[in-house]
Amino acid sequence: MNHRVISLKYRPQDFDDLTGQSHVVLSLKGAIKSGKIGHAFLFAGPRGVGKTTTARIFAKSLNCIEGPTIHPCQKCQACREIALSRSIDVVEIDGASNRGIDEIRNLREAVGYAPLHSQHKVYIIDEVHMLTPEAFNALLKTLEEPPPSVIFIFATTNPVKIPQTILSRCERFVFKRLSVAEISTRLKSIAAKENLEITSKALHYIAVRADGSVRDGESLLEQLSSFVEGKITEEDVFKLIGFLGSEFYAGLIQHILQKGYADVLRVLNKGIENGADPLEIYRGLVDYLRAALLVSSQLPEEFLDLSADEVGKIRSMELSREKVMGMLEVLLGSEDLIKRSMNARVAIELLLCQLIRSIDKVPVQKNEGCRGDIKEEMLKILQMQSPKLAAIVHNSSIKKEGKTIAIAAENDFAQKQLLHSKGMLEIILKKLLREDCTLRVNIADEVKKENNLEDTIRVLFDGEEVR
Ligand SMILES: Nc1ncnc2c1ncn2[C@@H]1O[C@H](COP(=O)(O)OP(=O)(O)O)[C@@H](O)[C@H]1O
Ligand SMILES: [Mg+2]
Ligand SMILES: [Zn+2]
Repeated sequence: MNHRVISLKYRPQDFDDLTGQSHVVLSLKGAIKSGKIGHAFLFAGPRGVGKTTTARIFAKSLNCIEGPTIHPCQKCQACREIALSRSIDVVEIDGASNRGIDEIRNLREAVGYAPLHSQHKVYIIDEVHMLTPEAFNALLKTLEEPPPSVIFIFATTNPVKIPQTILSRCERFVFKRLSVAEISTRLKSIAAKENLEITSKALHYIAVRADGSVRDGESLLEQLSSFVEGKITEEDVFKLIGFLGSEFYAGLIQHILQKGYADVLRVLNKGIENGADPLEIYRGLVDYLRAALLVSSQLPEEFLDLSADEVGKIRSMELSREKVMGMLEVLLGSEDLIKRSMNARVAIELLLCQLIRSIDKVPVQKNEGCRGDIKEEMLKILQMQSPKLAAIVHNSSIKKEGKTIAIAAENDFAQKQLLHSKGMLEIILKKLLREDCTLRVNIADEVKKENNLEDTIRVLFDGEEVR
């Protein structure tokens, strides 16, 4: 099969055939219907999400013999030529090649002439942010006094690099990354049309790997179809992209929680033998734990690019948020180690062992200012009188500030217990210190910070309430 087939063959020809981008489609259709069409449009967004495709559909809508129309006929000369990028009146310029110097010069000369066959002359300038300052200047002159029938459509993956003077003259449209569900639905229908047999898990993992880009998803499907005979399975996907599924990460984390050093190293090395790169595993693990963090924070499922099965799996592991946070902290703290290491395999082995070690480290506060042994001495006495209270004191931090002893509890519950036993604790302390003192019971700052996490997550998601 020709390598370019799928993404070209299935390039949408009509607005309604686009996946996602409904906000863009809606306003373009609105403009076409009302007949109020601007002179310059900016399509910004990541690669492979439909910017060029939409620009061509828009050009067809304008120049179709039945146009302006929201459903170009696809049959007239204009429609056919635009679909093949052969229309004289629809000029596509690639800003990235030669940074557009000659093209913009030509454009300045040609822009004054009326369109030959159609109602509009449309210039589609791809990767417009790559233009040279001279090219931008030339463009600006045209934009300031655009000839009546000329329309510019600029596409860019990097809008911040476009001069403000240009930006302010454009109607701006933001194209979004597509979700895993959107991409896999699209790929599913393409596979059906191509008579490709493929499991839904395989589709899911292709879509995950496509990372928001339909084109990337399509070219992965294409590659798979050319080397797999018969049904395409997730194993084939993993082989092609050295990618491991969420089951791999779930397994790894379960072994970490059970502190099975041997199992963790075995599973890890099996993944590497199967072609996954240590850095890939690192990223996959971070992504998986991020999902676990969102799940353990009760975020609605639409925020997660996970299947219901995968969410169920994470829930069943009973990963507390504290544990997930602890693991993410260890992982993110070692990003450099993994990325820069000459031997990435040892680096990831070490990192996973550190994860196991971090599991039972309850964040005990440092006993700054404490005379080292006060806590120890207190614990000795308490262990005999009240083991439960001893455990609480064990996890609290104790600080002596003049005649006040400050004890910072791990959480609300611990604070309540400490307050309840305050009298007894004071007596013990007085005996130990051989001086008069008062006890103050607080909540540790770190606990307060953890409680803030929920608020932070809320704010991150556009301030929408999650519960
Ligand atoms: N939103 C989308 N809906 C359907 N197919 C898409 C979409 N975005 C991209 N594609 C597929 O990817 C290919 C490249 O898309 P393109 O519009 O050139 O992306 P961009 O210009 O954003 O990089 C198209 O031919 C089409 O097959
Ligand atoms: Mg493009
Ligand atoms: Zn037409």
